[in-house]
This record gives sequence, structure tokens and C-alpha cells, in this order.
Amino acid sequence: MTRVFSGIQPTGDIHLGNLLGAVRNWVDSQGATDSVFCIVDLHALTIPKDPGEIGERTLELAQVLIACGLDPERVTLFVQSHVHQHAELGWILQCNTSFGELSRMTQFKDKSSRQRDFVSAGLFTYPTLQAADILLYDTEQVPVGEDQRQHVELTRDVAERFNSRFGETFVLPEAVIPPAAARVMDLQNPTDKMSKSAETDAGTILLGDDLARTAKKIRRAMTDSDNEVRWDPAAKPGVSNLLGILGACTGRSPEELAGGYEQYGPLKADTAEAVVALLEPIQSRLGELRADPAETTRLLAGGAEKAREIAVPVLDRVVCNLGLQPR
Ligand code: AMP
Ligand code: TRP
Repeated sequence: MTRVFSGIQPTGDIHLGNLLGAVRNWVDSQGATDSVFCIVDLHALTIPKDPGEIGERTLELAQVLIACGLDPERVTLFVQSHVHQHAELGWILQCNTSFGELSRMTQFKDKSSRQRDFVSAGLFTYPTLQAADILLYDTEQVPVGEDQRQHVELTRDVAERFNSRFGETFVLPEAVIPPAAARVMDLQNPTDKMSKSAETDAGTILLGDDLARTAKKIRRAMTDSDNEVRWDPAAKPGVSNLLGILGACTGRSPEELAGGYEQYGPLKADTAEAVVALLEPIQSRLGELRADPAETTRLLAGGAEKAREIAVPVLDRVVCNLGLQPR
């Protein structure tokens, strides 16, 4: 089976866009691929946080992912800092990546320009830790958004350089960018992507939101005044977004759904109902997981153990090929 690796930062709450655009694909691919999902808490350290915040969010994210259907029995779900090999290989790769290469990373330019008083060195070397995440698992495919393509390309470059200097060591990974996966737009500003950093929360549906409130947000979604239900994202972004969400929840095409509606009211009511039906079982599972945090901790410990079974021999191979003194 193809080895797939993806990393998710434990920052911000998971919203409907994350669920329909990413998490659901991971859930659906279980069993067809050998998937490793890593909550990258060490990456989250690159931007200053309060003590305890990352740990708390790590547990929450694990609970949300499991509640959404990621099955720790069928995938490897673990926390980056629980597997020391990430930090160790990260250092080795830093020493095999040039300052110039890292200076070209657009995410660094972007994120560092938004940090006012403290740009950590870790923010600069972030992509070498990401390369370590990927290469430690002999990863073949990395499902990511377009914004991460450059980091996966860098990972390939570093792996190739290492292989040619020290002999065949790493599998060369490739980025897999899902073809225009369900893109959920903000309910109030339907030309912007639904995002955790939106200006108002009226346009964003968080997975943990109260369901009555969720239904209300959908019924109050921004549409337009011509009152014609038609799938046309450019001319009618609000209505098309509702059709897209309804389609993603029900497995039907938005174009086909549009034919069934004359007015916005019933479309909003049906979309609200479909989203509530999608979220209800997720929330009830989330409630159980929150009531027993030790269960998630146990699952994550099991995940780290499975991860180490892959990562330890790979790092041994690296150390051996580098020619460090054997331990
Ligand atoms: P982010 O929340 O930006 O870290 O993204 C995490 C994952 O969710 C990535 O795979 C994104 O492509 C996906 N994602 C984020 N926002 C949306 C959205 N509004 N619609 C669809 N997918 C999204
Ligand atoms: N940099 C990724 C992001 O910001 C998160 C990430 C860290 C990752 N390590 C990874 C993604 C390894 C894929 C593979 O979204």
C-alpha cells in the first residue's frame, strides 16, 4: 500500500471547510492507503504561544479527528513531539539544506512579516523539520494544500542531495494536491474561503458549535436579491456555496440540486438540516471523547509506538550512511 503522510498543526479550531475539504478525504482513504497522520506540535512552537496552550490544543485536535472518523486502528495517528526522531532528523537535514534555499520559502516570508516582535529561528528552519516528518516514514505521497507544495519540493531536493552524497537513504516523496476539493466559502463573505481567522464568526461553522446556532448561521447566510437558485459560483457565490455544502453533505452534485429549488428559504433550510445531520454524530462522539481524555491519550501513545516502528529504522539508516560513530 502507498505510504501517505500528512501533518496538521494544533492551532485554531476545525471548521466545516476543514472537514469537507480535508479531514473527510483522510477518513475516506483509510484502508486504501497506509496513512500516517501527525499532529505537528513542534511546528506550532515556531510562533510564540502561552505555556500549556499547544498541549491542550493537541489533545483537542486528536479528539476532533477521531470523532470525525479517523480510526487509530487503521491509520497511525500520533503527536510529533512523542517521537524524538523528528527533532533529530530535523537537525541533520538543517545541516544539509542551504540558507539560500530556506530564504526562498514563501511561507517564511509571509509568516515572518506578520510577526511583530519575535521571528524565531525555528520559523526559518520550519521546512527542514517538515522534511524530516515526511522522510522519516519513507513517504510516497503527501496530501497537502497548494500552499505547501514548495515545502514538499524542498523535501525532495534535500532528499536527493542527501542520497547522492551519502548513498540511497530516502524515498523521494511527491505532493498530492486534491483537485479543487470541496471549497467551502465564508457564509457572510462568500467570495472568501471559510477560515478560522475570519473577521466575524457568523460566516464560519466550527465543528464544536452548538447545532441550533449552526442552523441559524446557515439560514442567515448571505445570498443575493434576485431570488433565483442557480449554480454559478462567479455570479452567485452565496447561493452556490450553499449548494456546494448541501452537495458535499449529501453526495449529490450542486448543479443537479439547484434544479430542485425555486427559492432561497427551502435551500437554506435543507442545507442547515444536512449540516446538522452531518455534525450530530461527530459531536456526540466528541462528547464521549471529552468525557474521558485518558482514552485519547492512550490512543495517541499507541500511535506513537506504531510511528516509532517505522521511524527508528529509518533514522538508523541515516546515521549509518552519514557515518556517525555507531551507538
Ligand atoms: P488550514 O485550516 O488552512 O490549516 O487547512 C487545513 C486543511 O483544510 C487543508 O487541507 C485545507 O486545504 C483545508 N481547508 C481549509 N479551509 C478550507 C475551506 N474553506 N474549504 C475547503 N477546504 C479547506
Ligand atoms: N506545514 C504544514 C502546514 O502548515 C504542516 C506540516 C508539518 C505538514 N509537517 C508536515 C504537512 C508534513 C505535510 C507533511 O499545513
